Amino acid sequence: MLTLHPGNKTYDCMSKVDVVLGLQWGDEGKGKVVDVLTPGYKVIARFQGGPNAGHSLKFGDEGFVLHTVPSGIFREGSVNIIGNGVVIDPVILMDEIKDIEAKAGDISDKLVIAKRAQLILPSHRMLDAASEAAKGKAKIGSTLKGIGPAYMDKTGRNGLRVGDILSPDFKDKYEALKAKHCGMLSLYPDFTFDITEYEQKWFAAVENLKRFRFIENEVVVNQYLKEDVKILAEGAQGSLLDIDFGTYPFVTSSNTMAAGVCTGLGIAPSKVGKVIGIFKAYCTRVGSGPFPTELFDETGERLRQIGHEFGATTGRPRRCGWLDMVALKYAVMMNGVTELIMMKSDVLDDFDTVKVAVSYKQDGKQIDWFPYDGAESVEPVYKEFKGWKTSLCDIRDYASLPQAFKDYVAYIEKETGVPVKIISVGPDREAVIFK
Ligand code: GDP
Ligand code: IMO
Ligand code: MG
Repeated sequence: MLTLHPGNKTYDCMSKVDVVLGLQWGDEGKGKVVDVLTPGYKVIARFQGGPNAGHSLKFGDEGFVLHTVPSGIFREGSVNIIGNGVVIDPVILMDEIKDIEAKAGDISDKLVIAKRAQLILPSHRMLDAASEAAKGKAKIGSTLKGIGPAYMDKTGRNGLRVGDILSPDFKDKYEALKAKHCGMLSLYPDFTFDITEYEQKWFAAVENLKRFRFIENEVVVNQYLKEDVKILAEGAQGSLLDIDFGTYPFVTSSNTMAAGVCTGLGIAPSKVGKVIGIFKAYCTRVGSGPFPTELFDETGERLRQIGHEFGATTGRPRRCGWLDMVALKYAVMMNGVTELIMMKSDVLDDFDTVKVAVSYKQDGKQIDWFPYDGAESVEPVYKEFKGWKTSLCDIRDYASLPQAFKDYVAYIEKETGVPVKIISVGPDREAVIFK
């Protein structure tokens, strides 16, 4: 068992934290990739987001969707950290833990939680719902898990943290924050709510959470680095949903990019190692906001059906479209991506042609950057590739892949300047090709 309380030591770390993150609008397949890569790491850590995430894992006949728990949880001997940058709904977390433990047994020695992580209160969920309802057509399309209001309270310096659970006046702090929220909710006279039942579950879940270790994750993570323990940070959402650089305001409320690892785990920028950027061979988005390559036709519907593009958290149909090289290059640049992983390549198996947006047209001019207004007003300019018309599902070595597919990969590598190291050809953890 690794030490969790390293004591008074210096922090001249030897190793670095590698990062897996999504380069599009989320749902790229981060859960699967983390599960695949976990044997090479001892520690897996979530650094931002919360139960808005839905990370699917598949092994054989079994499937799991994780929301707050890191995707290393099913690997023997792993340590899974819910970092300080995460927002936690105890009800959702404890439900998730119950499901995991039904399969994997007691995980209390494998899961630790940052004392500095923020709590999502039942009233945060109500604020999310009221705010979205009031926005009407301009709604963000939030997962309604209370993410935005919880991060507002964090930056507004009002939030409750996991460490507060152990404080004798926790209930008083809760009531004070809830009272503030109720005041805010009175600004939405049409919005009625009753949180009594959820509140009871919430307090029961808070009580149950106490069987997990609450840690100063910044100290623990830096000590692990010093001991040369391998750490993988697991991003949630995607780069184009980043609060600063995504398609604002149609974004989530955290820094989903590589920079978020530093503040979300407590490591210095110099301690970030590999940045593993993952993307689908096409694009999807769930919720509102700009999506330049979105297809409203039968091709979009085909992508949705073949790719089973329905939200892992909300079940909502995902919007589908072609790969957007302009957006991908932007995400690669902003994250400093060192290697790429291409997901869901098999979904394109039957297409005669595959398209990629190589630039945009805006006001009659051709541009090759991702504009400030989130590409709302642009029209994509496409390059066409010959489809490979071969099933990739059972291929496990790069050499056996069809040439047309290799050409597609080579083009992406050339344009981004980053090698594609893994190609995913199915949901199962075995369905990967290492290049
Ligand atoms: P995440 O949020 O990034 O972890 O991604 P999600 O789990 O929300 O969505 C990815 C979906 O694609 C899940 O249903 C996965 O089981 C599935 N998936 C992952 N990789 C592949 C792949 O290579 N091919 C296919 N067909 N499905 C995949
Ligand atoms: P994973 O980790 C895809 C989207 C929502 C909405 C916007 C804001 O599974 O990739 P929020 O609930 O954060 O207020 O929603 O962000 N969104 C996601 N889309 N995958 C996710 O997570 C997402 N998490 C949030 O649909 O448009
Ligand atoms: Mg998801």
